[in-house]
Amino acid sequence: MSIVYLNGQYMPMEQASISPLDRGFLFGDGIYEVIPCFNAKPVGFALHMQRMQDGLAELGIKLSTTLAEWREIVEQLLEANGKGNLGVYLHVSRGMQPKRSHAYPSEITPTVFGFAFEIGDSPSSNPAQVKTFRAVTEQDRRWRRCHIKSTALLGNIMHYHQGQQRGADEVLLFNEDQQLTEAASCNVFMVKDGVIATPELDHQILPGITRHLLLAILRKDGRFKVEERPISLDEVLSADELWLTSSSKEVAPIVSLNGGPVGSGQPGPVWEQAQTLFSAHKYDY
Ligand code: PDD
Repeated sequence: MSIVYLNGQYMPMEQASISPLDRGFLFGDGIYEVIPCFNAKPVGFALHMQRMQDGLAELGIKLSTTLAEWREIVEQLLEANGKGNLGVYLHVSRGMQPKRSHAYPSEITPTVFGFAFEIGDSPSSNPAQVKTFRAVTEQDRRWRRCHIKSTALLGNIMHYHQGQQRGADEVLLFNEDQQLTEAASCNVFMVKDGVIATPELDHQILPGITRHLLLAILRKDGRFKVEERPISLDEVLSADELWLTSSSKEVAPIVSLNGGPVGSGQPGPVWEQAQTLFSAHKYDY
């Protein structure tokens, strides 16, 4: 049985209910986080909560929950759901208002919801065992505030669906200038001639926590040159390696793009080292 958190209380999922007039439901007016936890140990907890605070501030949602209180909610959800390898989903919407109105109401209590879900073992850094991904390229048609981890994910899920319809697992998105932004549910890294590159942070991409951790780990290690810079479609199409990063996937190799192989068509040697480093150091930050 899944135990969830809703507005200060823990309860079985079946008993959790919110008003259909909640602005999260009507407008997607909210922020969320997904924190990966292996054997009940969260990865990047403080970084996830800082991004949550940044998102709430952007939306002007006032919530007094402290870092210690969030930690308690995460610990309780892990405890109540078997302490295994779980993703903890945390969601704050602006709250419920009695009358539907576009304007932000001044007096409103945010809705806070959390649940835990199975994410399986920590991803492997063994090329023979890791799950590999097939991707396709598409024009990024989402909004211009992708740095906000909004619960309004329609643009992302439409792109994701587009990818599935083309027989792929993910979609690499490109802006009007044919520069890489990110994927429908992940950030993207590229390797060319031993140099690792990823798009820089701006309103076009989510500041992924896995991206942040991977950059910090790679730079501290120092064996690879690492760049945050614009990346063109042509560069992506001729990359030696492409990776997806996200909380549940960690660093995941893309082995096919638009139906053709990426590099050798196998997880690459730089990926293997990057995921090995990530596994070893993901709790350091
Ligand atoms: N997705 N970009 C987008 C659009 C995302 O939705 C995600 C995460 C990422 C990677 O962020 P992070 O490393 O912080 O997980 C990048 C989550 C996991 C989801 O929506 O389920």
